Amino acid sequence: MISFIVHGGAWDIPDDLVEAHRNGVRKALAIGWKILSEGGSAVDAVEKAVNYMEDDPTFDAGRGSFVNAVGEIELDASIMNGTTFRAGAIAAVQNIRYPISLARIIMDKSEHILLAGMGAVRFGREHGILQCKNDELLVGRELERWRQLQSKQKFSTKDAFRKKTPHDTVGAVALDKNGVVVSGTSTGGTPNKYPGRVGDSPLIGCGTYADSSIGGASCTGWGEAIIKVVLAKTVIDMLEHNGGDAVIGAQQSIQRLEKKAEGFGGVIVLNNKGIPAIAYNTPRMARAYRTSEMNSDDVEV
Ligand code: GLY
Repeated sequence: MISFIVHGGAWDIPDDLVEAHRNGVRKALAIGWKILSEGGSAVDAVEKAVNYMEDDPTFDAGRGSFVNAVGEIELDASIMNGTTFRAGAIAAVQNIRYPISLARIIMDKSEHILLAGMGAVRFGREHGILQCKNDELLVGRELERWRQLQSKQKFSTKDAFRKKTPHDTVGAVALDKNGVVVSGTSTGGTPNKYPGRVGDSPLIGCGTYADSSIGGASCTGWGEAIIKVVLAKTVIDMLEHNGGDAVIGAQQSIQRLEKKAEGFGGVIVLNNKGIPAIAYNTPRMARAYRTSEMNSDDVEV
C-alpha cells in the first residue's frame, strides 16, 4: 500500500476561488503520487508536493503568503519522518523561496529540529537553499490586503479566521512502499501578524506529526488555537488508542479543537495502513488524496 494526501487550507473559500484551490491540490497530489508510485520516498513526495503549493500564489505559503504588520513576509514550515523520528522546522524566516526544503535540510543535516529567523537562513545558505527577495514572495492580492488592514484600527487573527479572508497553510502526508510515513506543513502564517509571530505549522506535534507505526497528520487553521490542543499529535494519540481509525481520530480531534480552544481549521491524516481521513469545522477545505487501492484521485474543495 502506498498513499498520499495533501491540503491547501481550511476556510470559507469563496466560490470564485474554488477552481484555483482544486487545481492547486490536484497538481500537488499528482507530483507526490508520481514519486511514490515510481518507488520514491515519502520524504521526497511530501517535499515536492509542498514545493508546488509554495509556488502557487493561490495559497498562503511561499509565494502568495500573507504580509506581516511591518510589511515583511515571514515563513513557517516543518517536516517529520515517522520512521527515523527525525524532524526539521523553520520559524519566522524571511527570503526563502521553498520553506519546506529548508526544513528538510535541517531534518537531514542538522543536530537541531527548529531554527528561527536569521539562523535558519544562514543554515540554508550553507546548504545551498535558494534565497529570494521579499518581492518574489509578495503578490498584488496580499499587498492590497495588507494596505487595507493597515488602515484598520484593530485587527485580530481570530477575526481573520472567521471571515472570508483568503488563507491558508498547505501540507501533505505520505506513506511509501517501505512503510515510512512523512508529514509536512508550510505557511505564511496569518495576515498582518506581529513580526516574529509563530503559528502551529513549524511546531512538531502542533501543525505536523508522523509516527510510521501509527500514522501522520498535517493541520491548517487558526494557529493559536491549534497550538493549545497540540492538534497533530492529538490525532496520532487518538489513532493509537482507537485501533487506527483515522476517520474517527480526525473528527474527534477537530471537535476537541473547537470545544477546548474555540478553534477552527482542518486536518489531513493517514494511518499506518494508508487509510486517509479529513476533518474540518470551516465551511470548506481544499484537499486531495489517492491510495494504491484507488483508480483515480479524490479532489475536493
Ligand atoms: N495555521 C497556520 C498559522 O496559524 O500560522
